[in-house]
Amino acid sequence: MVPPIVTTIQEIRAVTDAVRRQGQTIGFVPTMGALHEGHASLIRAARAASDYVVVSIFVNPIQFGPHEDYAKYPRTLDADQWVCAEAGADVIFAPRVEEMYPPHFYSSVEVARLGDHLCGASRPGHFRGVCTVVMKLFNIIRPDIAHFGAKDYQQARIITQMVRDLNMPVRIAIEPTVREADGLALSSRNRYLNPAERAVAPRIQQALQKIAQRVVAGEVDVVRLESALEAELKAIPGARVDYARIVDAEFLQPLVRIDRPAVIAVAVFLGTTRLIDNWLIGDPASW
Ligand code: PAF
Repeated sequence: MVPPIVTTIQEIRAVTDAVRRQGQTIGFVPTMGALHEGHASLIRAARAASDYVVVSIFVNPIQFGPHEDYAKYPRTLDADQWVCAEAGADVIFAPRVEEMYPPHFYSSVEVARLGDHLCGASRPGHFRGVCTVVMKLFNIIRPDIAHFGAKDYQQARIITQMVRDLNMPVRIAIEPTVREADGLALSSRNRYLNPAERAVAPRIQQALQKIAQRVVAGEVDVVRLESALEAELKAIPGARVDYARIVDAEFLQPLVRIDRPAVIAVAVFLGTTRLIDNWLIGDPASW
């Protein structure tokens, strides 16, 4: 079945309220569209865990900085509908910007500390925009479980923290990163890459893996590991390193030694395209 597209808050609430009245559970996959196999795997996970699956498609303006790619972010609703159909979504919520942010919208949600480094440092206000829209979507849809990808590690941690701190009645499920056969993490932004950039893009994951192997082999000095990581990334033709960091996996704070679960996290520009990826070392105590 091709899932219907609902565009107003009133309509999607009527749909999800009816589902809940029937005693069914709701799984939710928030997205910005331009869906790929990574999103499809989130939808399939929601399909397996819940009775009814809602996918939102909304390019959220307030999580983009003034010089970022909001205007050119791919909008592919027709194709997205088919990805949703094949992966088993029941309904798509695709509101217009004015529906989500009417005039005189003044509120925001911010999680302190976890956004101090990595993308939070490079993209000021980004996670405030993410948390605000995700909280709105949770309040609109009231899902039992919401599914997020581990590729956006910092985002997943921040949302988990928000839900915990604010006692929001939803469970956050973090699903594994889906990769191309050559290791490149799937991202809606991969479609911006030209053939030369696409050819070298897998070297980002290779760099992460090399550093992870050094950690597994016993190296713990974070300064040395971070500079080796940066050198690996800088050696990629056309790459500009935004950040290459090793932080603790739980609170995302800098480490001196790897003495607890950690995440190796990078953001790299290939041309004008900013790609992120990460590698987890050890199991975080909790998300
Ligand atoms: O990961 C994304 O696609 C977005 O940040 C999200 C969670 C849908 C919020 O706009």
